[in-house]
Amino acid sequence: MSTTLDVSRRAAAQAQPNIALIKYWGKRDLRLNLPVVGSLSITLDTLWTRTEVRFDDALSADTMTLNGKVDAKQLKRTSACLDLLRARAGVTSRAEVISENNFPTGAGLASSASGFAAMIMAGDAALGLKLTPAEQSVLARRCSGSAARSIFGGYVEWAHGQQADGEDSVATPLLEASAWPLSVAVAITSTAEKAIGSTVGMNRTADTSPYQQAWIDSQDADLAEARAAIAARDFERLADISEHSCLKMHALALAAKPGLLYWNAATVAAMHCVRSLRAKGVPVFFTIDAGPQLKAVCLPSAAAAVAAALREVPGVLNVVETGLGGPARLIAVADLAAA
Ligand code: DP6
Repeated sequence: MSTTLDVSRRAAAQAQPNIALIKYWGKRDLRLNLPVVGSLSITLDTLWTRTEVRFDDALSADTMTLNGKVDAKQLKRTSACLDLLRARAGVTSRAEVISENNFPTGAGLASSASGFAAMIMAGDAALGLKLTPAEQSVLARRCSGSAARSIFGGYVEWAHGQQADGEDSVATPLLEASAWPLSVAVAITSTAEKAIGSTVGMNRTADTSPYQQAWIDSQDADLAEARAAIAARDFERLADISEHSCLKMHALALAAKPGLLYWNAATVAAMHCVRSLRAKGVPVFFTIDAGPQLKAVCLPSAAAAVAAALREVPGVLNVVETGLGGPARLIAVADLAAA
């Protein structure tokens, strides 16, 4: 039976975006947000979402503020996420959600991943649910698939799972960031919101791309290859399989009707830049998600040269350098106010 909370409860959490090296694209269950393939990612460190969730019986509706502005567009997904937490706690109280990103939202930098991971973790603490990280990952997945991976740090794999209820479609950490620290340079080529979000893009792909089955059939081998490369700390091997997965996902989406073209001219120029660095022996590879930013992943010894080369690419507006980071964590509410 539903009850309301007798006191107002709040908590705040920070989560970092993750970048998939072996991509998630496609859903096997829309309602439970179950993926058609497993995926593998790295969690970043200097980019973050910080989110405070405050449940309060005095509120008549959920509210969502992002970077100081009321965000009506995100409210539906926010409320759906809060509903999952409310159902777990058996409460009906509405909540105020205040969120800050230190990077552009909705431009292919996985703001939904860090956003929903932080929201689930803060909401869990605010309601005193005491969920395990795996349980948090399952709930975060329901909000946005890639958010399942941002609960954890370092190298993370999210299983597509077998169960119809999706409880085994959960992320697990493979290796801590400190065990193989890589660097990432994010080449920002546009700060506009992307035209076609991941959910719409992947559903259109599943409905119309002739390559969907080949994508599904080849994913397990790609995951095994990436896992082996990470276990062996074999950069070249990880580079080859990661670029392959990225280009395969985009080829799949390009073949949808109408075709999904997430790149702009600067994205393509940046791909050539990374390829030419690699041909000269620089340990670097690229990956690109459902947006125009290019993420160059490299060994830390090459980070400065890679960032400098990307800054010279025509159309690259900015290059953000980061390393690999830890898991989502609770923070003091005051830390958010200070952000
Ligand atoms: C290209 O996790 O944003 O970044 O589950 O519909 O919210 P929804 O999709 P989302 O998709 C991310 C797609 C990707 C690849 C990846 O992160 O694995």
